[in-house]
Amino acid sequence: MFKGKARAYTNIALIKYWGKKNEALILPMNNSLSLTLDAFYTETEVIFSDSYIADEFYLDDTLQDEKATKKVSQFLDLFRKEAGISLKASVISQNFVPTAAGLASSASGLAALAGACNTALKLGLDDLSLSRFARRGSGSACRSIFGGFVEWEKGHDDLSSYAKPVPSDSFEDDLAMVFILINDQKKEVSSRNGMRRTVETSSFYQGWLDSVEGDLYQLKQAIKTKDFQLLGETMERNGLKMHGTTLAAQPPFTYWSPDSLKAMDAVRQLRKQGIPCYFTMDAGPNVKVLVENSHLSEVQETFTKLFSKEQVITAHAGPGIAIIE
Ligand code: PMV
Repeated sequence: MFKGKARAYTNIALIKYWGKKNEALILPMNNSLSLTLDAFYTETEVIFSDSYIADEFYLDDTLQDEKATKKVSQFLDLFRKEAGISLKASVISQNFVPTAAGLASSASGLAALAGACNTALKLGLDDLSLSRFARRGSGSACRSIFGGFVEWEKGHDDLSSYAKPVPSDSFEDDLAMVFILINDQKKEVSSRNGMRRTVETSSFYQGWLDSVEGDLYQLKQAIKTKDFQLLGETMERNGLKMHGTTLAAQPPFTYWSPDSLKAMDAVRQLRKQGIPCYFTMDAGPNVKVLVENSHLSEVQETFTKLFSKEQVITAHAGPGIAIIE
């Protein structure tokens, strides 16, 4: 029996990963850059044993269906191949996110599972290799191996596509990200399907590709010079561009809901009042507001008034993956 357990934190991209150039290997079209956060994380235990006849996957104490288990099985196969074993496994995963947050946890989930497998099978993978493995589970998971600011190098093959920390002289410690949890009833388009549809059909996608490198350069400059305004403006612009591409897809779609627009507008109003803060969004209606700690209370106050206390969650920069057992 081989057993391992790890914890990984979620990350939010400031420069988005949007589109794959290789679906099987999850090689992205562009580099992305994220901030790992402390408020949401996943703890995952994996046990490989000859007493199991099939892989099983428990998420938050609930046995998962065939579809979810298959995804985990395929991911486990990568590690079984690396270790040269064929043992089946039990995966027990706990998401530490507020209930009904509507937050995707695939990044922290698959990063934690990668760390647990590495420990269980004593593979001795270093963090860069672990990042490559995590990438195969869910692209953004490769960034959750590291804490703070993290860049995912798109690379050109399995070996060259991984994330690495971005030197920042602890700039991230000055920052907070306020999550506005917006639950809408709409059936969402998964990030996987959304990306595919956009790459294949959106006439705006080339515009995304043409400008994302420039955005990345600016954002890295902002980190280097600890320029919060440049950081926020670049993040906000990049996120809006990503969401713009979905409007020209066929069929068109959007992740925005009326409450997302309400939150974006509130951010703009706060700026007009002299409070520097900026928003970004991912493949869902939640809005994330980046602010310096010095202005955090004003942002929290505004959003708890506009929404409810339960819908506003504050995160700070978080650490990289941790092995628990
Ligand atoms: O790794 P995935 O399949 O969950 O895709 C993440 C896509 C975005 O959240 C929209 C952007 C990003 O870089 O995290």
